[in-house]
Order: sequence, then structure tokens, then C-alpha cells
Amino acid sequence: MIQELQGKIINIKSEADTEAFGLQLAKMLQPGDVVALIGDLGTGKTSLTKYIAKGLGVKETVSSPTFNIVKEYRSGRLPLFHFDVYRLADGEELLDIGGEEYYDAGGVCIIEWADIVESVLPLDALIITIDYTDKEGERILTIC
Ligand SMILES: Nc1ncnc2c1ncn2[C@@H]1O[C@H](COP(=O)(O)OP(=O)(O)O)[C@@H](O)[C@H]1O
Ligand SMILES: [Mg+2]
Repeated sequence: MIQELQGKIINIKSEADTEAFGLQLAKMLQPGDVVALIGDLGTGKTSLTKYIAKGLGVKETVSSPTFNIVKEYRSGRLPLFHFDVYRLADGEELLDIGGEEYYDAGGVCIIEWADIVESVLPLDALIITIDYTDKEGERILTIC
């Protein structure tokens, strides 16, 4: 179902638009979906993840899992496995820590800095690239 977003380019005017998109995406998510987020520091990967979590009904506070690599949230409609792979060198390291075992664990994976582990993403992962524009608060989401 999330595959229907592939090929879309979404112009975000403010963080409220990111919230609206995250809530919409959350409704579409199904077990086994993997959402790969690519974008520079501060583009809003963690923010978008928080809004997706909100849409899933996650009750816990979602915070960046940089030091844990992955954090699990099980209070929503589906389990959410939130990865931040910034500290990994490459996809091989994600395999070394058993990261791919989360892909088919019956929940949703969201992976920040997914470009680092691109070689081990599932073929049907939804890849969302977030870019800044020259206006504060604006972002462009390119989905493939
Ligand atoms: N349109 C927007 N979408 C998401 N976050 C935005 C937007 N505009 C401003 N922000 C702000 O940018 C910052 C994004 O930080 P964060 O989500 O931690 O980025 P990343 O995880 O990509 O490093 C937050 O402080 C957020 O409030
Ligand atoms: Mg982040």
C-alpha cells in the first residue's frame, strides 16, 4: 500500500505539513513495511518518525536511537522499530548486529541515515529523501 507513494514529490511548507504527511503515511503502513529516510542533519528524519509514531498510536516518547542503533515501540497499532544507523560504517555492520531480523518481525521499520545501509535495504523499502530548500521550514520529500 505504501508503494502507491513511490514516484511522488511532496513540497513541505512547514513542520505542520510534515506532521500531516507522517499521520497519512502511518495509516497506510502494514506489517513488514520498511521506510528508509535519507537527508542531512536537521532535515527532519526524527521529526517525521515521531509523527509516523503518533499516527500509529505510539504512546511512548520517541527519541533518536543514535546510541542504541534501534529502539522498539510496541504501544501502537503496529510495532515500530526505529533505527538510526549514523554510527554504522555500512550495510555489513547492520547485518552484523542482526538488523535485518527486524524487517520481517511483524512491525514497521523506519531507518534514519538509510543511505549508509542502502546495500542491505529490502527491495520494496520506501525510500524518502528529504532536502532543504532556501526557505526556513520548507522541505522537499522525494519518494522512490
Ligand atoms: N518542515 C519541517 N519538517 C520537519 N522538521 C522541521 C521542519 N521545519 C523545521 N523543522 C525542525 O527541524 C528540526 C529537525 O530535526 P530532526 O528531526 O532531529 O532532524 P534529523 O533527524 O533529520 O537530523 C527540528 O527541530 C524541527 O522542529
Ligand atoms: Mg535524527
